[in-house]
Amino acid sequence: MQPAADTFTLPDAPLNAWYAAAYDVELGRRLLARRILDHNVVMYRRADGEPVALENACWHRLLPLSEGALEGDNVACGYHGLVFNPEGRCVFMPSQETINPAARVRSYPVVELHRFIWVWPGDPALADPALVPDLHWNSDPAWAGDGKLIHVDCNYKLVIDNLMDLTHETFVHSSSIGQRSITEVPFEVTHGPNSATVTRWMIDVEPPPVWRAQLELKTGVPAGRVDRWQIIHFEPPSTVSIEVGVAPHGSGAPEGDRSAGVNGRVLNTMTPETERSCHYFWAFVRDYALGDQRTTTLFRESVASIFAEDEHVLAAQQRAIDDHPDKQFYNLNIDGGAMWARRLIDRMVARELPDERYVRSAEQSLAAEGERINVEATAADAERLGIKL
Ligand code: FES
Ligand SMILES: [Fe+2]
Repeated sequence: MQPAADTFTLPDAPLNAWYAAAYDVELGRRLLARRILDHNVVMYRRADGEPVALENACWHRLLPLSEGALEGDNVACGYHGLVFNPEGRCVFMPSQETINPAARVRSYPVVELHRFIWVWPGDPALADPALVPDLHWNSDPAWAGDGKLIHVDCNYKLVIDNLMDLTHETFVHSSSIGQRSITEVPFEVTHGPNSATVTRWMIDVEPPPVWRAQLELKTGVPAGRVDRWQIIHFEPPSTVSIEVGVAPHGSGAPEGDRSAGVNGRVLNTMTPETERSCHYFWAFVRDYALGDQRTTTLFRESVASIFAEDEHVLAAQQRAIDDHPDKQFYNLNIDGGAMWARRLIDRMVARELPDERYVRSAEQSLAAEGERINVEATAADAERLGIKL
């Protein structure tokens, strides 16, 4: 049993990356304050709808600009009335003829894509919009759904660990989706230079109630046995997109044709707030019953109540980490996906932080490129979970 790399308990996140800072609907003609990787940011939309992200501290006496007011495309400080434009330059000072050119606040690169407002907290020269994580299903007309933002009192990496290992469904979600069934065990972990993937197929199983109902909604006929999938894709530093669904057994889904089934995607992207808290943006989208608002609301609310169970566990885990700084993590077979996600994050951090622990972890990940991990059920799993091997 391997101790996890010592970077596991370090909270760092790379600065040179796009992070979701708001849902599109959160941003409008008002000032929204949010802390992102320990940067205080104020966001709003210009009159033409373009998003703006500025440092949330006035140049003069540091009052948060979010306490001020919009004036056209600019923001006026709520203390002595200095006005800053979307580039962060001061364009008005009361009782002064000339404006000190040094009077400015930091302006952050910002992009709106896939229904999120993305902010780049690192070097603006490196902020390439092509690097925004792929969550296009969230705005693709071939998919429908909705999501939420939750605030979690834990380091963002704990949420990634949670999403990369759906084994926890059995225990954390025992009152909702968790079943002691075949869903718990065999899976495969693969990884590339910029991705880690966990693939789990459950062939010829009874569909769980929620998926049975969805399949019947789509086909209009009673559902029989199904092939079910959960395919988890990680994109560093903090985006996890999970393919989920079921198709009638024997309709060719494992071979690549899922057209007879119901396909969903759980989209997740986490943005560190501080070392010990994060903003967790998620959505659930589907590729059938596109105009059915009832299904959208049903999924959004049931996923929200499932995630509330994770929130509780994650916050408790963070408190325990804080209380036991001398202890370390261990990696089990089920942590294969999380381990690769962590190594890919470490690789990004190693480029920014000359800490030998990150460099070592990054080298390990390069050395093992293309490795494949298969995790099978053991006889003990089968007995405990009551499954057939
Ligand atoms: S603190 Fe903002 S104008 Fe004085
Ligand atoms: Fe969960």
